Amino acid sequence: MSTVIVVGSVNVDLVAAGGRMPRPGETVAMARFAQTQGGKGGNQASAAAALGATTHFVGAVGDDSYGRSAVTDLQARGVRLSGLRTVPEPTGVAVILVDDSGENSIAIIAGANATVGPAQVDAALQAIDGEAVVVACLEVPVPAILAAARTTRARGWQMILNPAPALALPPELIALCTVLTPNETEAAALGGVDALLAAGAGSVVVTRGADGCEIHTAGSEPTFVPAVQASVVDTTGAGDTFTAALAVALADGRPLPEAVRFAAAAGALATEGFGARGSLPTAAEVDIRLTT
Ligand code: RIB
Repeated sequence: MSTVIVVGSVNVDLVAAGGRMPRPGETVAMARFAQTQGGKGGNQASAAAALGATTHFVGAVGDDSYGRSAVTDLQARGVRLSGLRTVPEPTGVAVILVDDSGENSIAIIAGANATVGPAQVDAALQAIDGEAVVVACLEVPVPAILAAARTTRARGWQMILNPAPALALPPELIALCTVLTPNETEAAALGGVDALLAAGAGSVVVTRGADGCEIHTAGSEPTFVPAVQASVVDTTGAGDTFTAALAVALADGRPLPEAVRFAAAAGALATEGFGARGSLPTAAEVDIRLTT
């Protein structure tokens, strides 16, 4: 069985849905409220576990009811939590609006996620035996992600960075990434695909939602991968499932274009339920969607 290690964030998502997005200074009424489990890292770990990978999570929660609910949910999904710390900060929170088309706007309050540091990450990764693919996002501090990337390279593993939310990245971190998975906005904020490849990224997979995605690798022509049909309810977390599925497929030894097609189908399926983890697919469900 393939192994995926996620270094990332845990949030509790406070979601208002149904209606349209407010403009600046405007109040709108929305149809419903829900409290769901989130955080890009927690979502990625949950998605990798649903797809059948042995999945480890490295991150932090607070000693509070949100943190306990997050841990209970991750455990129930089969995610291994020996790399998770409980710290004297509140658990991370995301405030999310989802409009009638399923599009979202998200504001995050890092809380415990901001305490994840290099020593914790390095120790957690060193404790895991065998081959693995490591996944990270930027909702935990960059020094922690850089430590993950250095240890990943030293272990001979592959590193996937979902650069969300986009931040200026140290060139060393870019060069240690096997694959980066920005959306269009994030790719532009990071200086563009050519700059990322010139800095040494192995490949850059730019996701464009319903417009599919592009694979860029230095020295090769870009490859376009079309989007997979979906009945969209909520796009929250679709990118997290995309990145997790890419990690699972690469950990299974699939070539990058095939792994991206698998990830695109997994991401599409993840939009069909409410909440970031409302419709995480199994590998069999992804394979069926790829053949229909
Ligand atoms: O990618 C979706 C996630 O972003 C949400 O679950 C929210 O917690 C934010 O981290």
